[in-house]
Amino acid sequence: RHTSATAVAHPNIALIKYWGKRDEQLMVPCADSLSMTLDVLPTTTTVHLAPEAPADSVTLDGSPARGEARQRVVGFLDLLRERAGRAEPAVVDTRNAAPTGAGLASSASGFAALALAGAAAYGLALDRTALSRLARRGSVSAARSLFGGFAICHAGPGSGEAADLGSYAEPVAAPAFDPALVIALVDPGAKAVSSRSAMRRTVDTSPLHRAWAASCAADLAELRAALPRGDLDAVGEIAERNALGMHATMLAARPAVRYLSPATVSVLDGVLRLRADGVPAYATMDAGPNVKVLCHPADAARVADAVRDAAPGCTVLTARRGPGARLRTE
Ligand code: DP6
Repeated sequence: RHTSATAVAHPNIALIKYWGKRDEQLMVPCADSLSMTLDVLPTTTTVHLAPEAPADSVTLDGSPARGEARQRVVGFLDLLRERAGRAEPAVVDTRNAAPTGAGLASSASGFAALALAGAAAYGLALDRTALSRLARRGSVSAARSLFGGFAICHAGPGSGEAADLGSYAEPVAAPAFDPALVIALVDPGAKAVSSRSAMRRTVDTSPLHRAWAASCAADLAELRAALPRGDLDAVGEIAERNALGMHATMLAARPAVRYLSPATVSVLDGVLRLRADGVPAYATMDAGPNVKVLCHPADAARVADAVRDAAPGCTVLTARRGPGARLRTE
């Protein structure tokens, strides 16, 4: 029985977003979401059990994790221990390929890697569905990073245990669709509001949230039809309107949640200019000012140049479809 395991997971970007949880304790989203797992910026996490240690030890990019970040990891380890019927503390070492604080050192890759390595270290034999359900307890978006390519995370029915069981991710086959995603890191600062509390505020106070959530179901159905066709224009249009709609719901929250910065808007203008010049390019934004631009791989260099022109000084990288989380065998 192994008491040490290392896992690697990549971030994912949702083309249909979820924004809001219907159970914060069990981390169950209000709506389905669909994402692309990337081939850049992986997180590598080692978990080893330390029966003699007085408490868990959590290291993030070489420094001890503190506060909320540490608490989320320790809470997740508690969940693993409860499932495994074990009590040993763990030593967790996490390394992000993303520059620390770049706004893309994502909780998705982090909790996908932690779920996989932690389950192995504590001797939990779980299939991918169960691992994805488990990763969701750390961060909802992490459920999707268990899978490579495209993945859908089901909101599932009901409440309580039924909701927990019904909410997991699974792959969506789209062999013909292999786009590039040009990522513009426009602001390396930490986010102003955590996505968790921003979601709560939006669901509780935004008069637009219900309408957007209803539009997501239709967006998802259209996207699922466009993906296997490899139809970049359809996928891009749906993803862009879904993201802008999500940010509109946040702007209407009381008080407003605004993640988009002037540089974000400049990049969005750059994307519109590209389209006016006949280059298919479509933007999506998450809980931060960074912009991810979906385009044909052949156009990626031109899109990256346009993004740099629009937001001088920003860091640009280009991603493609990436692999699902995997254990590293030493
Ligand atoms: C805008 O799932 O990362 O990227 O569960 O609180 O960790 P926590 O939040 P998380 O939020 C993702 C929000 C989003 C949309 C999405 O990825 O679907």
